[in-house]
Amino acid sequence: TADRGRRMSDTAVSLAAPRAVAFMLNGRAVAVAAEGGQRLSAALREELGARDVKVGCNAGDCGACTVLMDGAPVCACLVPLAAAEGARIETAAGLAATDPHAKTLGAAFLRHGAAQCGMCTPGMIVSAVALKRENPAPSREAVVDALSGVLCRCTGYRAILDAVLDAPKPATADGTVGARVTRLDGRAKITGAEIFGDDAAPADALALRIVRSPHHRAAFRFGDLNTFVRNTPGVAMVLTADDVPGENRFGVIPAFADQPVFAPAETRFRGEAVAAIVGEPDALETLGDAFPITWEPLPAALTPQDALADGAATLHPGRAQNVMCTGLVQRGDADAALRAADIVAEGTFRTPFVEHAPIEPEAGYAVRVGDRVEVYASTQAPVMDQEGVAAILGLPLSAVRIVPLAAGGGFGTKLDLSVQPFLALAAWRTGRPVRLAYSRAESMQATTKRHPSEIRASVAARRDGTITAMRFSGDFNTGAYASWGPTVATRVPVHASGPYAIANYRATSRAIHTHTAPAGAFRGFGVPQSAIAQEVLFEDIAERLGLDPLEMRIANALTNGAPTVCGQVFPTGVGIRACLEALRPHWQRARGAAQRTGSVRHGVGIAAGWYGCGNTSIPNPSTIRAGVRPDGTVVLHQGAVDIGQGANTVIAQIFADALGVPLCAIALEGADTDITPDAGKTSASRQTFISGNAARLAGEALRGKILRHANAGEGASIDPLLGALEVADGPRHTVIDLTALPQDTRGYVFAAEETYDPPTAPLDQNGQGEPYAVYGYAAHMVELCVDVPLGRIHLTRVTAAHDVGRAINPTMVEGQVAGGIAQGAGMALMEAWIPGRTDNLHDYLIPTAGDMPPIETIIVEEPDPHGPYGAKGLGEHALIPTAPAILNAIRHATGARITEVPATPDVVRRALKEAGHE
Ligand code: FES
Repeated sequence: TADRGRRMSDTAVSLAAPRAVAFMLNGRAVAVAAEGGQRLSAALREELGARDVKVGCNAGDCGACTVLMDGAPVCACLVPLAAAEGARIETAAGLAATDPHAKTLGAAFLRHGAAQCGMCTPGMIVSAVALKRENPAPSREAVVDALSGVLCRCTGYRAILDAVLDAPKPATADGTVGARVTRLDGRAKITGAEIFGDDAAPADALALRIVRSPHHRAAFRFGDLNTFVRNTPGVAMVLTADDVPGENRFGVIPAFADQPVFAPAETRFRGEAVAAIVGEPDALETLGDAFPITWEPLPAALTPQDALADGAATLHPGRAQNVMCTGLVQRGDADAALRAADIVAEGTFRTPFVEHAPIEPEAGYAVRVGDRVEVYASTQAPVMDQEGVAAILGLPLSAVRIVPLAAGGGFGTKLDLSVQPFLALAAWRTGRPVRLAYSRAESMQATTKRHPSEIRASVAARRDGTITAMRFSGDFNTGAYASWGPTVATRVPVHASGPYAIANYRATSRAIHTHTAPAGAFRGFGVPQSAIAQEVLFEDIAERLGLDPLEMRIANALTNGAPTVCGQVFPTGVGIRACLEALRPHWQRARGAAQRTGSVRHGVGIAAGWYGCGNTSIPNPSTIRAGVRPDGTVVLHQGAVDIGQGANTVIAQIFADALGVPLCAIALEGADTDITPDAGKTSASRQTFISGNAARLAGEALRGKILRHANAGEGASIDPLLGALEVADGPRHTVIDLTALPQDTRGYVFAAEETYDPPTAPLDQNGQGEPYAVYGYAAHMVELCVDVPLGRIHLTRVTAAHDVGRAINPTMVEGQVAGGIAQGAGMALMEAWIPGRTDNLHDYLIPTAGDMPPIETIIVEEPDPHGPYGAKGLGEHALIPTAPAILNAIRHATGARITEVPATPDVVRRALKEAGHE
């Protein structure tokens, strides 16, 4: 992509005056007036309505906007519009309609589950079409080469590569629980028709530009804002903290909601908002730096060490210290057991900020409709958004409607409000629709990150390898504001043991404020960081005792009936031992084959993980509504936001099974606070488990009503017909004439609404209790090569065993696992966000297609009694074991013990030297 970008930049033409640029777009002659320096991507999207051209970075890094220009793939964001004069431009939508390769590719993408959120999919398919036109039967290497300019943050690339290679894959368009159903919402993703946050604003929408702090910490003073507005053509208004009619804070949960929408007097991180300029899009684009504001930089604490140093500034006036909150779980007597142990392993472990980097930056629009405001944006939590926006605007909840647009990835960052408050406020005040899409830099500066951690831990064992104790203390940099930091501080001590039985345990955590972007929710909520410490120390124990690392883990794995470190006992459904045992043949094959001499050495590493699904010890309900219309349509109100993980399909599969009708009979009503009940937020691996259970209950309730109406028994079948339902109970067939039945206020003749809230119990002062009703379990085995002289790591294979209880849709399970492994590999080997230095996707690296090895997913099904059809959550679990398995594989290959990530070549070289390598 970068090469393509450079080639196109060389041809840049600077235009002195607008003129018409004429070219062919998907076979149609078009002409666009060229403003100076306008990008082809902007012209295609804004002037020609080609919203199938997605924009992720505007810098040629992500490749989402790839189009064909005279048959060659180019990043449209790097092509000056003028350079398109006379060219033939083809986009994903045009190709989907006419190109035979695109049609085959689209079908293969659906079959393989290669489109998750779908934001990268148009760029992927366009690039693949270019390849296939030149080489209809490409090698895997050629496919990797052709696609390596397009980034995907969801899939881990393996399904995409297999789809382009047209590898066989079982799939069905219909089916219930357990079937490899293709995504119900997949078609729009492969044609580019999916509507993401920046794809839907009305043509007359105003734009909004946020004024952000250029300093880590600063005081500021506005100049004359009224004069600025009056004297700047096209600017409608400026909004500041004084213009917030309700509460000037993000979020609705008091403990989490300390971040102002606009900083009132002092900014606490680089990128914090102080004002918003609302106006005509052209006016804002040409505004430059004319905004009247004076900054006074102040001393800043960027690390917990800085924040805890004597005399460090208190980030929260009124609080005595910068420690936001702490967590504790203790059981038995860890200190005594450590003193009495045969062997103790100890270490200090460090991880950095990690950026979510969804390919779609935060975006949306808002519009005032009478006394209500409607916000259309990508989000993971529509009802929380509704509550937050209502509080900020000082409006009743009923005056705010949130309509989630397709989320082009989330991974936790879209749990927090981002564009919504600014848009709602501006639309409310101007009475005009207002749109906003964060730039990539803005997204990376201003949104939440994975918490950096510094962890000190000790693990004790008997000579036979039985783990007897663990002591753990972790400091987490939670940034300037709380976000989901309290959740991280709570979850880490609960999970830091890993899925093992440890009788004596003491784990503490602290979330510490600094002057950096807030750290918040990111796939795993702190558990991926703690898993590195725990699994590397387990490796120490195995190595020092001369034990097989896999067998040692199997011997210590949690089992049914054994208490967790919180004292919770699961009589059934504990699947970690089954996961580890499923890896045994692969382990024995790979460990036996590893060549551990020479300059390139092979290693095999293993690690395990677990994750509690849903909120920790607090209510976490989901509600699902369904109904039958007089015409026979079965409607499922599915408010669990699908951010690519597949909720739209999986929850429909569960519902269809429970109701006893084919999946194709279901009409989905997507998330919308006006029409779908609250299915909670898409986070913490909760939707399949919790919303899935609500869907199961709703399906069963609706079925019960229909069967009672027909006076039919439990085993009867239900067939939706046009205007009727046919109920067959053995030889007795009843046709219910739906048109003759009374309708409820929503127009349904049969309806059901059910809520599921998982059973948990509070944690006591020692962290003992029942934090989650269900855990999911995983074990990953990584094979890799270490280039000893260069310190470079090349992953060669990952084998991942996941206990999902019941795979509602195995293809989507595999997709989640591969995507999680890619994020785990990024965390292990390359990703580190540095405040003020890595606010783009060329300095902040995420894995490309060329970085990902083959992945074999082993699905383990230890049914959970609470899960719908036994299913457990999966989203978070998929990356937790990856990074420690990579570190343990490096150690197997070379003896180098690595205790910090990312294990970049300099880190690896340092560890190699400490291990005695030259
Ligand atoms: Fe590729 Fe989401 S499916 S970025």
